[in-house]
Amino acid sequence: MISAHEFSKWTRLFYSGLRKRMIHLNLQLLNQCNFKCDICDFWKPPFSKMPQMSLEQIRLVAEKLRPLGPQFISIGGGEPLLHKELLEIIRVLGKDNFPIMICNGWYMTPEKARMLFEAGLYEVSISVDYASADKHDAQRNMPGAFDRALKALVMLKENRVHRYQRVHMISVVMEDNIDDIEPLVKMSKDMGITHLLTFYSNSRGRKEIRIASAEIARRLLDIQRRYPEFVSLPGYLARFAEADEAGHGIGPCYAGKNLFNIDCQGNVARCIDKLDDPAGNIFTDSIDQIVKVLNAQFRSQDCRQCWTSCRGSIEALLYGKQKIANLSAYYRMIKPVPLTKSA
Ligand SMILES: C[S@@+](CC[C@H](N)C(=O)[O-])C[C@H]1O[C@@H](n2cnc3c(N)ncnc32)[C@H](O)[C@@H]1O
Repeated sequence: MISAHEFSKWTRLFYSGLRKRMIHLNLQLLNQCNFKCDICDFWKPPFSKMPQMSLEQIRLVAEKLRPLGPQFISIGGGEPLLHKELLEIIRVLGKDNFPIMICNGWYMTPEKARMLFEAGLYEVSISVDYASADKHDAQRNMPGAFDRALKALVMLKENRVHRYQRVHMISVVMEDNIDDIEPLVKMSKDMGITHLLTFYSNSRGRKEIRIASAEIARRLLDIQRRYPEFVSLPGYLARFAEADEAGHGIGPCYAGKNLFNIDCQGNVARCIDKLDDPAGNIFTDSIDQIVKVLNAQFRSQDCRQCWTSCRGSIEALLYGKQKIANLSAYYRMIKPVPLTKSA
């Protein structure tokens, strides 16, 4: 059973969704990371030299966000588990919002997993991009990354404290792991967790090539038909057919209207790939002014560069055609699942 307070948060979030308001924030608490992934830039200077966001600053962020209504706050980085005050940060953000987190799993222990859920984490995804240790570890430039990620997923699954707290494996779709997706989804199924995908954004990282096509969309949807554990929204997967650059990408992008980004310096941008075009700073500017600028950026831009899941899932849910299929996959993504017996 969820508490009256949680129920009220869900109701207000649902209402914001119906009114097509802001419902999702990507938050980079810090840029420092213990991995040096080929697909990411944040572990390099100048990003890695920037100070982390402090707990005091998080309190201010939570205060400033309140007028927007509850947000899904996706805590990332960098590696969020490197932040010493992560538990308290989750508590502070969780009071009025839904904190979720993506991490690489390296620093997970059963105790930490339990404490994260007790602090109020709603959902956690661990990144695994290839179905074999050698390929995953090479992309992440960290021997042992694959084994630790899988162990972290089990620790998380076994240490949830509420049935609504969910654990996913998440994979970035790149030009060289299409054949790994079905084995990865099967691994999630065998572990009793669920699977998400996001499409590589070549605005970051060292990999140049992105491939998406009607054939890839068809393959992903076919995997989903056979594996209910694969809970990415079908409306998101279907549009992999249009996401290749030759086809000029997917627009309009609703970043700035329904989702936004705050980096560890408090700079607000419409998305993680537009940090160089800030709409303001959450520490110093009013939230009304920031949202005004974000909305204006949304109206004036025609960016079609990415098809990452933060954007794609929200657009599929709020604006997609197959409403029932998307809502039903969304329900599978968030629905309560029984706690593991030992929990
Ligand atoms: C930036 S990471 C931060 C969290 C953590 N360090 C991790 O590796 O999961 C957040 C998510 O973005 C993904 N990611 C990294 N670079 C990306 C890119 N260029 N395009 C799309 N997703 C990317 C990661 O695989 C991960 O799932």
